[in-house]
Amino acid sequence: MTRFIPVSAPFLGGNEKKYVMDCLESTWISSGGQYGERFERAFADFCDVKYALSCSNGTAALHLALLALGVGPGDEIIVPTLTFVATANAVTYCGATPVFIDSEPETWNLDPDLLEGKITPRTKGIIVVHLYGHPVDMDPVLSVTHHHGLFVIEDAAEAHGAKYKGRRSGSLGNIATFSFYGNKIITTGEGGMVVTDDSELARKVRQLKGQGMDAERRYWFTIVGYNYRMTNIQAAIGLAQLEKVDWHIQRRREVAKWYYDYLQNVPGLTLPVEKEWARNVYWMFSVVLGESLSLERDEVMVALKEQGIETRPFFYPMHTLPPYRGLAEGQRFPVADRLAARGINLPTWAGLTKEDVEFVCDVLIKCVNWEGMVK
Ligand SMILES: Cc1ncc(COP(=O)(O)O)c(C=O)c1O
Repeated sequence: MTRFIPVSAPFLGGNEKKYVMDCLESTWISSGGQYGERFERAFADFCDVKYALSCSNGTAALHLALLALGVGPGDEIIVPTLTFVATANAVTYCGATPVFIDSEPETWNLDPDLLEGKITPRTKGIIVVHLYGHPVDMDPVLSVTHHHGLFVIEDAAEAHGAKYKGRRSGSLGNIATFSFYGNKIITTGEGGMVVTDDSELARKVRQLKGQGMDAERRYWFTIVGYNYRMTNIQAAIGLAQLEKVDWHIQRRREVAKWYYDYLQNVPGLTLPVEKEWARNVYWMFSVVLGESLSLERDEVMVALKEQGIETRPFFYPMHTLPPYRGLAEGQRFPVADRLAARGINLPTWAGLTKEDVEFVCDVLIKCVNWEGMVK
């Protein structure tokens, strides 16, 4: 049988089945039931924050966070151009305008030095994205946002358990959002969470995700809300995953260490960093092919695929996508453009073995060396 190494796969090695069976046997399969609250309480503790509100996915979580902060038409929200489309889409759902910012070359996160230049009288806030599991350098971001009275949302969809100067992702801004999609560090299949220390924001998110119903009065709807609830079954899976989250993170860090061991001295490859102030949780261990290699990124991906290795390209920057490119006319994003054109996400998940990683690296190194010989 030919070998197949997926770029990502869920790892369900704990109480998932037991808790889901409990939902089925008790018939609590909708959004009521004990697991929602248990998962929220445990996730708030995990992030070191007071409140956690579960919801249907990470995109809904972003939408809820923006709505709770009062974002609406006419507002501008600064977002990194190199992110998954959901970050920008959630801004658009509110009738607001995403304003794109370039990446910085080392961590691939938004470049805090460019922030000041993006602020206009319409700017309401910023969404920072801890891309591929490495936290954003928050202090320079927070000094600019405090100075201008802007809010900060952390889009931590890819960074459960990442740390900035010892503090957990999710606890670094006004409010934060997570995704539990099947390829995330922990999963509920589909799912999301909003976390915050702010009781008023938490109250608003809870109301918005439940159709806008008044907490004190059943079927009394004081605002137009949404049905963004998470089911008890999803929360049951989430709680079981969360019980083992430290193991999941430790496994990913181990996988990353193997990649570093095999790849760190290969010329022409740039690897992820872990800054001295950061804990990277390696949602995706990635490589960026150097400009000196004439081999195209997609050719390398095809060569890996032929050996049964699934990879992913970096995200297309938002300023290049049809719904958004009109917003960025005349602006330049050279770092994000280069990363996006040359970046590959390698298989990264908790079930990978050292032999899997060695095989991926062997094939990758052969590509790079072969390319070196033809030059
Ligand atoms: C940075 C980022 N933001 C938001 C999302 C959206 O999460 P979901 O797919 O759960 O809606 C994702 C998920 O892929 C993501 O990577």
